[in-house]
Amino acid sequence: MTTLDTAPVAPILDNLFAEAKAAEPAMRQAIAALSPEDRRASQSAEGYRAFYSRAKDFPLPVSRETGNLLYMLARSANARNIVEFGTSFGISTLYLAAALRDNGGGRLITTEFEPSKIARARATFTDAGLSDLIEIRDGDAAETLSRDLPAAIDLVLMDGAKGLYPKILSLLEPRLRQGALILADNANWSPDYLARVRSPAQGYMSLAIGEDMELSMRIG
Ligand SMILES: C[S@@+](CC[C@H](N)C(=O)[O-])C[C@H]1O[C@@H](n2cnc3c(N)ncnc32)[C@H](O)[C@@H]1O
Repeated sequence: MTTLDTAPVAPILDNLFAEAKAAEPAMRQAIAALSPEDRRASQSAEGYRAFYSRAKDFPLPVSRETGNLLYMLARSANARNIVEFGTSFGISTLYLAAALRDNGGGRLITTEFEPSKIARARATFTDAGLSDLIEIRDGDAAETLSRDLPAAIDLVLMDGAKGLYPKILSLLEPRLRQGALILADNANWSPDYLARVRSPAQGYMSLAIGEDMELSMRIG
């Protein structure tokens, strides 16, 4: 058994996924109400803040499958230092922190700018008994990830504003260890990011997985 399959983490994840499912109709309605300009702006490098502020009550989580993949990648890489762009309610964070616990410890830096989500995620991490492994950086990740990073990052989850993926990658890149893994959700929204991680000349090997994810590895 793993930390994922046992209490308190397992029932907390069950509750969070149930809540996410119940929120789906309202979320779909909210997305349908967006104008084409709003949609484009939501993922641009400039217009994301307003979009995520409107989505502050929605968890927008990774799927259980993606969560399991994150857990397996972190265990397999024996990750000790993980960075996450986009905490939301903390579902993916729980998977990653559970892997750190089962690896024997480590540090997970996660980033969120919506105050209500931060408060909620913090309480969840305490209830899950994982808060000793998690540092929540409060504010825009483009700023909060510009300093105090671990010397060697093993694993990254990209799941915040898609237009910022290239910028966040640039901030983390000097600290990515050789063989570091980066999972990017909804990567198709960020063509510049995809072009970069699909370029061995720029130091990455990469492949699309699932519906809209990209798994990349730092080779240099
Ligand atoms: C798709 S959700 C993350 C879901 C989370 N990874 C999970 O699976 O539970 C994206 C989150 O990133 C946050 N976010 C987006 N851009 C951000 C930024 N530039 N800095 C900090 N947080 C950001 C949003 O507020 C939102 O809560």
